[in-house]
Amino acid sequence: MGADVAVVTKVHPVRSHSNAAQGGINAALTERGDPWEDHAFDTVKGSDYLGDQDAIEVMCGEAGREVIAMEHMGVIFSRDDEGRLGTRAFGGQRQARTFFVADFTGQALLHVLYEQVVQADVRVYEEWFVISLIVEGGECCGAVVMEMRSGEVHVIRAKAVIMAAGGLGRVFEPSTNALICTGDGMALAYRAGAPLMDMEMVQYHPTTLKSNGALMSEGARGEGAYLINAEGERFMERYAPNMMELASRDVVSRSEQTEINEGRGVNGCVFLDCRHLGEKLINEKLLQIRDLGRDFANVDMAHEPVPIRPGMHYQMGGVKTDVDGRTSVPGLYAAGEAACVSVHGGNRLGANSLLDTLVFGRRSGERAAESAGAMQHAPIGDSAGDIERASIQAMLDRDGDGELFGRIRLEMGETMNARLAVFRDREGIQEAMSKLAELRERYGRVVVSDKGKTFNTNLIFTLELGFMLDCAEAIALGALEREESRGAHYRTDARERDDENWLKHILLSKGPEGPSVEYLPVAITQWQPQARTY
Ligand code: FUM
Repeated sequence: MGADVAVVTKVHPVRSHSNAAQGGINAALTERGDPWEDHAFDTVKGSDYLGDQDAIEVMCGEAGREVIAMEHMGVIFSRDDEGRLGTRAFGGQRQARTFFVADFTGQALLHVLYEQVVQADVRVYEEWFVISLIVEGGECCGAVVMEMRSGEVHVIRAKAVIMAAGGLGRVFEPSTNALICTGDGMALAYRAGAPLMDMEMVQYHPTTLKSNGALMSEGARGEGAYLINAEGERFMERYAPNMMELASRDVVSRSEQTEINEGRGVNGCVFLDCRHLGEKLINEKLLQIRDLGRDFANVDMAHEPVPIRPGMHYQMGGVKTDVDGRTSVPGLYAAGEAACVSVHGGNRLGANSLLDTLVFGRRSGERAAESAGAMQHAPIGDSAGDIERASIQAMLDRDGDGELFGRIRLEMGETMNARLAVFRDREGIQEAMSKLAELRERYGRVVVSDKGKTFNTNLIFTLELGFMLDCAEAIALGALEREESRGAHYRTDARERDDENWLKHILLSKGPEGPSVEYLPVAITQWQPQARTY
């Protein structure tokens, strides 16, 4: 379309967190007897009926074409015995429709997409940090950015900005997410006036290592691994007799936590048992997680059960968009984990996130290019840059025995993990909110000890912490607001799903007096809410 495109990224593109997506990408292929409507229904049910069905239809309807397009670009997907693209089973789905590259699917997709970026000669501002978005006359028309190498602050004009900055995992400690996942995209859009939606919906993945929270792919259970408790019992039989270990993630994580809470775990863990899969299969399809287990838990999954527990993994909520990535701020788009379309609702199915990024990333790009082609740049000067330069200087000028960003970040993460995890209640959420208010006040006193300009990571981490606090507050507020249990949001003081009152989205908008709350109906097309069992 001839658009002049640039990517601004705080890390090199191939170090982006999509690298860490292990298990696969879902697509129903009609020619394999798997209609996309079945994938859509599994996604709707997985979302606990909070996903917007019109958006889910778009994602599942376009999935096959995206996966094939990636294969044609050069992704070497794992094959089945007949030499066709192989599939594995994944949680909450009645069909094995997860295409994969061993247990490093995200890395394979990311590298091939980066080749396309290089081939298309797209300008990449690597290790540039976005400080704020510029909104003039209600429209987004650029960003204030810092070149991390020099510490210089610049203004970049844009006719359209697509926020594809990923998730906020590190608002929780521990998390499966990379240290870079600090919610920048969500907070930037929120500060620019775009509402965040369903932020209370935080996914805990059922299999993370106790030692460091690293992900042990659902692909292991897809290949047939068991979950066992201290007594060696496959306890999922009691919670999800049909789907067992491949029930949806919210169900499996709650089941594990119940086992642990009721004394049938060991040291806060249950076990992932892969021994019966055999070394050959493990080495072919699960080698990365075998190495992770050996390196970080000193356990070889080919020979011993691996201690695992539920761990923070994904944010289903995010910047509210339509199916073309448009936010409520003209000129500002969002896609991927930063966005909430909403296709994941209360609980995302494993392997639907890579799909979400591809489908809605492409659609956002197409719409943004189309609209940019028909407009002129807004006449913006450098004043937004001056404001940020002054505020950074004020931060650097603070001296003395103030607060350390790292201490606040850790306290925030541990509070979120204690109060907003698999089980929540009003009292715990309120405690978290008071703690976050205290941390917000202390954040105002953070001292950046490195006063230099070159790669001042102390400053960058402090700016990130500001974004993280915005996200943490939004999660806690959404969780307090939603007085029911749905998907990943389970309130022990309101244990049932309440469709009469809560079959709706929660939208939070940032205002001078604090966030305001609004509701939006869920789009229902073909599937009326039903009881959800696995
Ligand atoms: O378990 C996994 O491989 C994670 C996949 C996902 O979150 O989509």
